[in-house]
Amino acid sequence: MTKGLPADISESLGLIHRPRRNRKSEWARRLVRENVVTSNDLIWPIFIIEGEKQRVPVPSMPGVERYSVDEAVRAAHEAAEAGVPAIALFPFTEPGLRDPVGSEAWNPGNLVCRACRAIKAEVPELGLITDVALDPYTSHGHDGVMRGEEILNDETVRILCRQAVNQAHAGADVISPSDMMDGRVAAIRAALDFAGFQQVQIMSYAAKYASAFYGPFRDAIGTNATLIGDKRTYQMDPGNAEEALREVAQDIEEGADMIMVKPGMPYLDIIRRVKENFTVPTFAYQVSGEYAMIMAAAQNGWIDGDRAMMESLTGFKRAGCDGILTYFAVTVAKRLKG
Ligand code: PBG
Repeated sequence: MTKGLPADISESLGLIHRPRRNRKSEWARRLVRENVVTSNDLIWPIFIIEGEKQRVPVPSMPGVERYSVDEAVRAAHEAAEAGVPAIALFPFTEPGLRDPVGSEAWNPGNLVCRACRAIKAEVPELGLITDVALDPYTSHGHDGVMRGEEILNDETVRILCRQAVNQAHAGADVISPSDMMDGRVAAIRAALDFAGFQQVQIMSYAAKYASAFYGPFRDAIGTNATLIGDKRTYQMDPGNAEEALREVAQDIEEGADMIMVKPGMPYLDIIRRVKENFTVPTFAYQVSGEYAMIMAAAQNGWIDGDRAMMESLTGFKRAGCDGILTYFAVTVAKRLKG
């Protein structure tokens, strides 16, 4: 009889199944664990700014800094050393360089291209992903060119092709279209091949939703202040799931090597359905707003930030992700290394 409990309570129920047996100790939990995050699963998005020896914090993303090119090289070293396979670059374009058609996007000397060359020269083993979309370069903050209120599709796609080839020339290993224009993957694939970049991969933001969770990112690259209206005529409606499957199918058909779902945590169902319907490497982007929520709550002492970080990333793996773009990437990789 267990001391303190009445005899009738402490009697065995004669249960056949006791799921708790496999949870009784850490070794047992490790043995039966179905999904784990490893450093191989991580892609680190970083922000690039002009200047030298600059590390400028993003106030809405505690712990995240924007790097000048020289500092980005240092950060790239740090990522590679920690075991992160790839980083993704996002530029803060000087406002004076932004115009209605985003012409800085195809300037071979633009900030992203300079960062690519510098990082490739110093850290060649690190995968280099560049974002294709016009929003860092347009004066109106949209991902495409406009006529009146309309974001023009085919005109934008032609510019995206130039942008993609420009980035490939600078050393990008993976081109990642985040613009959500129709037909851009096929067009970019053809443009890359024509320019001799048959080995440059395409990771398409196949199902990218018009989300409130991009706010801090837009602070970081300086588009919150300039964005006119919203992106709902090209990014997906948060209510749709079937449509995400059609978007993914189309991008695979057009030649995407890898696809992405974005944002992450509110769209785990989409990741799961994509994984069950297709056999293509599938990634999620744990976006700036998701990062900000975890960090803000942690800083207030409302949640354990470290555990929330690991739990959120484990959730992506469980949903079926092959990898995750996350601002936590280097922190996690270092932690996993011990
Ligand atoms: C731009 C782009 C965005 C993000 C990645 N590429 C923002 C947007 O579409 O407005 C968001 C990333 C994040 O929030 O962390 N095409």
